[in-house]
Amino acid sequence: MPNTVLIGAQWGDEGKGKVVDVLARDADVVVRYQGGSNAGHTLEIGSERFVLHLVPSGVMYPEKLCIIGNGVVVDPLELKSEIEALMARGISLEGRFWVSDRAHAVLPYHRRQDTAREQRARPGQRLGTTQRGIGPAYADKAHRTGLRMGEFCRPGWEAKVQMRAEESGCADGAEMVATLREAAAFLAPFIADTTAQLHEEWRRGRTILFEGAQGTMLDVDHGTYPFVTSSNATAGGASTGTGLPPRAIERVVGVIKCYTTRVGEGPFPTELKDETGDLLRRRGREFGATTGRPRRCGWFDAVVARYAAAVNGVDYWALTKLDVLDECETIRVCVAYECDGRRLDRVPADAEALARCQPVYEEFPGWKMSTSGVRQYEDLPSAARAYVDALCRLTGVPLGLLSVGPDRASTFRLAI
Ligand code: IMP
Repeated sequence: MPNTVLIGAQWGDEGKGKVVDVLARDADVVVRYQGGSNAGHTLEIGSERFVLHLVPSGVMYPEKLCIIGNGVVVDPLELKSEIEALMARGISLEGRFWVSDRAHAVLPYHRRQDTAREQRARPGQRLGTTQRGIGPAYADKAHRTGLRMGEFCRPGWEAKVQMRAEESGCADGAEMVATLREAAAFLAPFIADTTAQLHEEWRRGRTILFEGAQGTMLDVDHGTYPFVTSSNATAGGASTGTGLPPRAIERVVGVIKCYTTRVGEGPFPTELKDETGDLLRRRGREFGATTGRPRRCGWFDAVVARYAAAVNGVDYWALTKLDVLDECETIRVCVAYECDGRRLDRVPADAEALARCQPVYEEFPGWKMSTSGVRQYEDLPSAARAYVDALCRLTGVPLGLLSVGPDRASTFRLAI
């Protein structure tokens, strides 16, 4: 397998965890490069369900090297409990899991700042964040006032945390330090110069899988700003977030659902606030893996998909959740927008303009039968194949993988 970046092509929750789990089979190293515990990657293996927030999804294979790169913001308390939960299930991380010493820590005051901002926000200004402290942690990184994970391995971090907590208006800085002390000691053996490790792996010709979190439309530069997360969720982030150069990346796989969902606030042109939206939510089990919030659901948006294909340089789609559409009589796909009396073929930069966009739909007949037991592409009903072919034609990207259910067996590989 070529070194591959896997990105979300919509607003997150495309099923990346499941696709990473399949592709990780052929990789030697799996590395996360952005985001933090706002992500929730769900894996279903046999009868077991795992939700990972920070540890790369490749961890389920005992021999893979798993790395949290420098571009990730790491909540030490969350990471410690995630590692402990994995260990309790017999999954060993020793000697094969590392956290970048350059990655920034999400500290208790970041979480508090995140929640306070959301509570203070006037209507229309709320972002609907996951309240995991992601934005404030990245803000401190850009302000150059953050704490990097490497600092937990040296004396002196306690005074810095207490000072920053107090500067942020928290009177309980000393208690925060006390809570962090155990996690810092627990995590210290996992902290390393992962840039050097990754370069060594690359030099030795080992296969690297870059695991993106969130999605293109939540990217801080390319998404629906300000209704975005605070990192570069697009393929470019894989280089800055790991220290590997762009030419180490040989292929980009875009994970995309056969319909669209969004959690949190912000424009969503194909959103369905009717019973079809409810049907997608129910059949697709569209509730946040991190916050449990019901996701907003709507039709596939080919304008967004084309934009994601362009920004990330997507070579193949990993198309997920086709089975969720099994009961639909007619399926719609947005092929363009109408905005202020004009037809638009691309995503406008301005979120307010996107909020005024009305979708122009093309209709496809549903197949009205179950696809969840299908194990090869050729066995899909012809209307389902026609729908999948149309998505690829409308977006100009070939199909690499398709999934018709949550478990490993329902995910079948075509070109990747
Ligand atoms: P934050 O990343 O917690 O700051 O949240 C910013 C926006 O990104 C909100 O709309 C969240 O709902 C959304 N978001 C963050 N992480 C995810 C994710 O993993 N899946 C889907 N949406 C996410």
